[in-house]
Amino acid sequence: MEFKSSLLICFLAIQFVPILCASQDFDFFYFVLQWPGSYCDTSKSCCFPSTGKPEADFGIHGLWPNYNDGTYPSNCDSSAPYDQSKVSDLISKMQQEWPTLACPSGTGSTFWSHEWDKHGTCSESILDQHSYFATALKLKDQLNILQLLSKAGISPDGNNYSLSSIKSAIQEGIGHAPWIECNKDTSGNSQLYQIYICVDTSGSNLIECPTFPHGKCDSNIGFPTF
Ligand SMILES: *[C@@H]1O[C@H](CO)[C@@H](O)[C@H](O)[C@H]1NC(C)=O
Repeated sequence: MEFKSSLLICFLAIQFVPILCASQDFDFFYFVLQWPGSYCDTSKSCCFPSTGKPEADFGIHGLWPNYNDGTYPSNCDSSAPYDQSKVSDLISKMQQEWPTLACPSGTGSTFWSHEWDKHGTCSESILDQHSYFATALKLKDQLNILQLLSKAGISPDGNNYSLSSIKSAIQEGIGHAPWIECNKDTSGNSQLYQIYICVDTSGSNLIECPTFPHGKCDSNIGFPTF
């Protein structure tokens, strides 16, 4: 009912203010976490942020508006560029939980600004810049992926784990199947790199993923130390 009436409003509004409808046009979010150990042990390597080595935990990569068909909108509003003064109360938390590992070392603002400009502007009608970053931080705290993996005996100790055991531990912990993205360490071994979790358009409810990204992990993957 709610969906139908918002469609109707959108239909009526489209004749007068099409931009309103275009700006909220996405189906769900991917909330993407990355394992810093797997970012850093590749041939490309990494640089710790100028604020110091991040803690050994999954870091946020981003909260990405997506379409059910697997495509996604990007760079939706060049008139609303990243403005760090709008998230000043969140910066210390972002430094901890959304650390940049790109080279050369930075404070994180280049990373956050890329995420907002490319992805965040596409969910602007629902989450303004402050809510966008606050929502991602809240999701990270709620999920606590490292802890639920460790309860299932899976920890970043440099050993290999079966992909299916990692998926089921997360599914049991959060109630929905995640998508796992792997990359390769310097010896070419497949390892746990990023975890994709699907969230509804409000940014607050986890959902079953309407579609999964592409890519493949080996059936046994590394979980390197950091
Ligand atoms: C993990 O698996 C790879 C590929 O089979 C293997 O080369 C590597 O030695 C394994 N690592 C450990 C710590 O067992």
